[in-house]
Amino acid sequence: MTNEMATLGLQASGVGKRFLSKGGDVQALEAVELEVAQGGFTSVIGPSGCGKSTLLKAFSDLLEPSTGELSVNGKSPAEARAAREFGVVFQSPNLLPWRTVLRNVTLPLQVMGVGRLTRNQTANEMLELVGLASFTRHHPWQLSGGMQQRVAIARALSTNPSVLLMDEPFGALDEITRDRLNLELMRIWGKLSATILFITHSITEAVFLSSQVAVMSSRPGRITRLIEVDLPYPRNAQTRDMPEFYELVIEVRRALVEASGAT
Ligand SMILES: Nc1ncnc2c1ncn2[C@@H]1O[C@H](COP(=O)(O)OP(=O)(O)O)[C@@H](O)[C@H]1O
Ligand SMILES: [Mg+2]
Repeated sequence: MTNEMATLGLQASGVGKRFLSKGGDVQALEAVELEVAQGGFTSVIGPSGCGKSTLLKAFSDLLEPSTGELSVNGKSPAEARAAREFGVVFQSPNLLPWRTVLRNVTLPLQVMGVGRLTRNQTANEMLELVGLASFTRHHPWQLSGGMQQRVAIARALSTNPSVLLMDEPFGALDEITRDRLNLELMRIWGKLSATILFITHSITEAVFLSSQVAVMSSRPGRITRLIEVDLPYPRNAQTRDMPEFYELVIEVRRALVEASGAT
């Protein structure tokens, strides 16, 4: 029992990634150390090109690290992928325009061979969870950008993963919509108690959502600071008005400036 409780949601140790190319090699990541408790919410923030997506891809088994080890619920990324332990959400919702909202969400289940009745029921539940119950028969192009991203979240949740890997999921949205989706994500996270790794370049978003902010340096990306965000959960619109919220925003901003090597 104690062993089970000690299993981390996500762990990276000594992770490096070097991309080899004719134009010159790129050391994208170097000696990355990261631990996310099961049910924890960690944001990774860092300057553009510092290796954030590379790290997320390594966790999601989309690329092999050059050095080091990663685990998801104690399993290797490949094992975790096979066991459908995690879902992934990218900045672009990547929905299929010819399928309805419902049938976009059922797609992973269809690939798994889940029967139609069950997959429709699951997809309906997930769409209800993200607040899109009345849009199941719409097509993606009939939805706003924020709604499309909610569909992508519902799709990622359809296989009931215990870990959600999110790469700047709200990065392309306007600030009001982003704030609203941040609230939605808090509500969803509260219901599912999943482990979340959330990549962003928004300082306020990182502080608002996470219990831990990992600050990455410019290339080669390393995690240079871990900032605990001890704001109470559940977080809501009032959280953003708290003086402690602003203090943390300032702290993350300073860490980010230091990590970027700017003066
Ligand atoms: N497949 C690849 N081949 C070569 N270089 C890559 C590849 N993927 C990413 N890179 C390089 O690695 C660095 C980190 O990229 P990335 O992880 O996408 O950064 P971020 O998500 O923080 O903006 C960048 O310099 C990028 O050009
Ligand atoms: Mg990226």
